[in-house]
Formats: sequence, structure tokens, C-alpha cells
Amino acid sequence: MSENKYAELIIDGKSYQLPVVEGSEGEKALDISGLRKNTGFITIDPGFFNTGACYSTITFIDGEKGILRYRGIPVEELAEKATFIETAYLLLHGKMPNKPQLQAFSQLLNANSMLHEDMRHFFDGFPRGAHPMHILSTMINALSTFYPNVDLLSLKEDINLSAARLISQVRTLAAFAYKKSIGEPIVYPRHDLSYCANFLNMMFDSPVQPYEVSPEVVKALNLLLILHADHEQNCSTTTVRTVGSAQVNLYATISAGVSALSGPLHGGANQEVIDMLRKIMRSERDVKKFIDRAKDKNSAFRLMGFGHRVYKTYDPRAAIIKKTCHDILSRLKTDDPLLELAMELEAAALQDDYFIERNLYPNVDFYSGIIYRAIGIPENMFTVMFALGRLPGWIAHWQEMLTKDTKICRPRQIYTGHTLRHYEKSS
Ligand code: SDX
Repeated sequence: MSENKYAELIIDGKSYQLPVVEGSEGEKALDISGLRKNTGFITIDPGFFNTGACYSTITFIDGEKGILRYRGIPVEELAEKATFIETAYLLLHGKMPNKPQLQAFSQLLNANSMLHEDMRHFFDGFPRGAHPMHILSTMINALSTFYPNVDLLSLKEDINLSAARLISQVRTLAAFAYKKSIGEPIVYPRHDLSYCANFLNMMFDSPVQPYEVSPEVVKALNLLLILHADHEQNCSTTTVRTVGSAQVNLYATISAGVSALSGPLHGGANQEVIDMLRKIMRSERDVKKFIDRAKDKNSAFRLMGFGHRVYKTYDPRAAIIKKTCHDILSRLKTDDPLLELAMELEAAALQDDYFIERNLYPNVDFYSGIIYRAIGIPENMFTVMFALGRLPGWIAHWQEMLTKDTKICRPRQIYTGHTLRHYEKSS
């Protein structure tokens, strides 16, 4: 990161110098860390459209060019050649694991895949229709009581153990939550299966119908988890960095990230896309009606899976998933009318000035649900899959954020309420 350039700010005729910082990919920022002390002014930027919250070495996104790299490696290469666990190691350590490192990490994942048996009682307390994301967030918080506030910095020292516990146990939690929701006996993790195969087996194996793990499905799941593994300062990662800055237990911090991700404008969009496509299907595929509704300022309806705060071109993850959809459906010898409908909707939107002028393109959520459906994941578990994928990213950002000099996140505001007035007893 280079410094020693300045921007000049003139306030009431007085000149101030703001240091200009430049990142390794040429992104530029004004360092305003001394602004209030030197000028009495703060900046204001609701939604943080223009505000950088931190320096980070984990993920690089170029929203104009549609570039996404984890620790410098293009996501396209990782999606094609890596496994999710190798990608998780890369995000946590900044480099791909060698064979012994990968073996040790995989062994840690296996050794930490079981939940404390007492955790099972919590599941019985949830109402039948409880959304798995709410169960997941609650259960991850409950996990923190089994690992009370150890010294957080020592957690960092053994990041592999902390990460393995979370990445492995959250996978077990997700599968258990699903089994409970359908009234089937839970299936325990197995040491002889890879990360993704283990999850699929815990989800779909049953005493009456043993589950046959298909390499195609494992490959598809690896691809989806890799594509969701990190995305720099998105809403849920910013939540993790913010909550973690108060030195909250890592599990409770991740639980907060899961809650943020569950929002329909964020990770919850993948489930909303399928709901939207099904509604269009039921309206005799009246794509134009839904496009018009999405453009109507008086309607709260938005084209789910479309648009992005950072990408002003095609989300590279959506491009990979779209390309893979056909491939996976044909290998699994299945078809999904929603895929053709999604492509028809995309084509109509991308020819419409409203979407073109606002640079609205499909994002990661637009096609992911098609693959989840093809591999048998139920729709209310789609955002849980997003959380499973995002876990290594969240942990990597928590690790990067937490140093002995970490300052608690505490933004300022501009107050626009009542000026001084005094208590009057109401008549
Ligand atoms: C994720 O940040 C990340 O990196 C997130 C994520 C990750 O990996 O962590 O990539 C994952 O969250 C992807 C996004 C999933 N959400 C959706 O698909 C929900 C639908 N999309 C929108 O709600 C919206 O596009 C957001 C929330 C994603 C982004 O919204 P912004 O950046 O706050 O932009 P905005 O709402 O100010 O929109 C700008 C304009 C507005 O119109 P005008 O006021 O200029 O006339 O574009 C319009 C919006 O009304 N617009 C849409 C639209 N998205 C934006 N209009 C119709 N349909 C849409 N989907």
C-alpha cells in the first residue's frame, strides 16, 4: 500500500491535507482518520457506498470488470481445480496447502465434526416450521457455551483448530437441523467421507434408503461452496468484523454473520429467486409483467438475484454457475423448467433500459438455486448452504481484524432530532 500523496480539503478558507492511500490493485482512498480532530468535521455515507472500513489482503473484487480473486487467485481457477477445503485453507492462510498441511487440516475437520450430545436437546425446542437459518444462528451461539471465552488471541494462534471446529460442526448442525425438520433420525458424520460427501450423506442417508454419494453431486457442491467462500466487505462479513471488534466469542460473532446473511437482500435472495421464478411460472410465464413490476417505483418488488452493490457488470460467480447449470443437469439426467425461465428472464432484463442504465446483472444468487434443487437441497436450506460456503471467509476476516491493537467499531452520526428541551409532565 503506497502513501505520501495528499488531497487538499479547503473548509472556510483553511486548507487541510488528506493522505491518499493506494492498494495493491490501484484502488485509491482518502485517509480521513484524522479528519474530526483536525477539522471538527466527520463524513456521512449511509450504506457505506463510498466508505472503506478496513485494509484487507483476503479478497479482491473489481466490480467494473467482474473480477473476483481469493488471495490473488481468480475464483474461476479455484472453481475448476480446487476443493472447498483447499480454498478454505487458502483464505485462512493466504496460500494453498501442501499435502501434509491439507491432510492435517482434513484430520482436524474430521476430529471436530461431532457435536456435544447435549446440543441435540436444543433442536427439540424449535417449532416445526422454524427457518433453518434461525436455527443455525441460534445453535452456533449455543456452541459458544461449549467453548467459553477462551483467550481470543490464542484462538487465532490455533486458527486451524478454531476454523476446523466451526467449518465442521456448522456442517453437522445444518444437516441435523434439516433431519429434525423432516422428522427423520439424524445421521452422524463419517471419517471416511470428504467434507462435501459427508454433508450430503448426513442430509440424505436414511435407515431405510442408504444414500449413494455421486461424484457429480460432490463436484457441484464443491463448486458452489468455493464460489460463496468470501466476498470482501459484504453485509455479513462487515457484521462479523464489527461484532468481533468488541472481542466477542468467535462462535457468537459467526452467529451474528449468519443472521445478517439470512436477509432477503443478502444471502436470503437465493431462496427468493426460486419463489419468484415459481410465481412467474404460475402467471403463465408472464416475464414482462414481473420486469415491469421490478421497474415500478411504487412496487416493493425487486428482481431477486439481480443487481449488486459492487458488481456493475456480470457477477463472475453467476457466470460460472450459469455455465455449470446445464452441465450438472445433464450429468444428473434431470431437467428444470425454472432454468429456462431464469434465462428468459435474464435475457428480457438485460435488454431493458431500466436494468441497462443501472448496471443490473444477475448476481451469485440468480442461478445457484437451480443447482441446489438439482442435487436435492430443499429451498429453505439454500441460504444455509450460502452460510456453509461463507464460513472460511468470515473466519479469515475475523482473524485479520483481531489484533492486540484492534479498535472497537463505533461509527459517528449526524444528529437531526430535537435540540435541547425540558421535561414537562404530560397533562
Ligand atoms: C449478495 O455485497 C456482497 O458482496 C453480497 C454478496 C456476497 O457474496 O456476500 O454478493 C451476496 O447479497 C448478492 C445480492 C443478493 N440480493 C438480491 O439479489 C436482492 C435483489 N437485489 C437488490 O435488492 C439490490 O440490487 C442489492 C441489495 C443487491 C444492491 O442494492 P444497492 O447497492 O443498495 O443499490 P440500490 O438499491 O440503491 O439500487 C440502485 C438502483 C435503484 O433504482 P433508482 O433508485 O436508481 O431508480 O437500482 C434499482 C434500485 O431500485 N435496483 C433494482 C434491483 N436492484 C437495484 N431494481 C429492480 N430489481 C433489482 N434487483
